[in-house]
Amino acid sequence: MSTSEQPAVPAVAGPSEAGIATETGLSGESSAPARGARRGARNNGKPRLGPTGRPIRELPEPPPLDKHGPAKVVAMCNQKGGVGKTTSTINLGAALAECGRRVLLVDFDPQGALSVGLGIQPHELEQTVYNVIMERSVQVADVIRKTRVEGVDLLPSNIDLSAAEVQLVAEVGREHTLLRVLRPVMDDYDYVLVDCQPSLGLLTVNALTAADGVIIPLECEFFSLRGVALLIDTIEKVRERLNPKLDITGILATMFDPRTLHSKEVMARVVEAFGDTVFDTVINRTVRFPETTVAGEPITRWAPKSAGATAYRALAREVIAR
Ligand SMILES: Nc1ncnc2c1ncn2[C@@H]1O[C@H](COP(=O)(O)OP(=O)(O)OP(=O)(O)O)[C@@H](O)[C@H]1O
Ligand SMILES: [Mg+2]
Repeated sequence: MSTSEQPAVPAVAGPSEAGIATETGLSGESSAPARGARRGARNNGKPRLGPTGRPIRELPEPPPLDKHGPAKVVAMCNQKGGVGKTTSTINLGAALAECGRRVLLVDFDPQGALSVGLGIQPHELEQTVYNVIMERSVQVADVIRKTRVEGVDLLPSNIDLSAAEVQLVAEVGREHTLLRVLRPVMDDYDYVLVDCQPSLGLLTVNALTAADGVIIPLECEFFSLRGVALLIDTIEKVRERLNPKLDITGILATMFDPRTLHSKEVMARVVEAFGDTVFDTVINRTVRFPETTVAGEPITRWAPKSAGATAYRALAREVIAR
């Protein structure tokens, strides 16, 4: 992918949706219409503002499903490292499962952090997503395993996957490999969340080619906006050349610290640039997330009543409504 010149912050949402450039950057309403059926939570007649600066909108409980599939594939993607991709994949997946959705989590990072976060030791695995994509004789259903979380399955990965990036280059239809191997299980799930590695290489392009949507976790930190232009450029190229249905499901602000002006300023810039593409749900910075990794469990199980668990449940409702 070439790195064509882009503005520092592209207005993907378009100027009319760019939202809330008020004096403080934290009040006012996005001019774009709310998605789905949302009500403004009111406080003495005034709408209560969430961390995005928009009124807090409450979403109804998602309706139960009487059958499952075909899955919506969502790539969790940002080439910047340590922004909360893996944490969001695990916890959004667990929260979707609490809503009765069947979820497959695909670890598409050779580091295997998603597998570790679900209590699986990747180096002990004989077969992983690597074998599924490189060996035609290996069936995806045979490598998928159940997790301790009901309704959440995992296609694990380990360091073997790092070789795939090089080996895939010589394959016919190399960008469609993940899509092809996922096809046989698509009807078993409602959501397939793909945890991408922090790069825009061939593995990530495979995830984007398989995906219906992309969720971009974005850390509420000054340099986080750098690189987003290149990411969006890559998404647009994949849409044009490989996967016309690809859409940005949403931008998820992570590691927000409500006590600092800095976090609020970054948040305001993100909302100004991306408008309603930004989820209302914002994930606060808390030590509970690193704890869950050690525990090998999603926060919805490790600390079910915590603010972090509540936030990922709210995100699940937004994702279902989008
Ligand atoms: N909201 C949060 N508050 C505090 N720490 C967090 C939060 N979300 C994630 N973390 C921690 O930050 C670190 C990076 O998070 P995570 O692994 O989810 O990011 P990533 O984008 O997947 O990283 P990589 O690019 O390396 O794959 C982890 O130690 C995780 O526990
Ligand atoms: Mg990760």
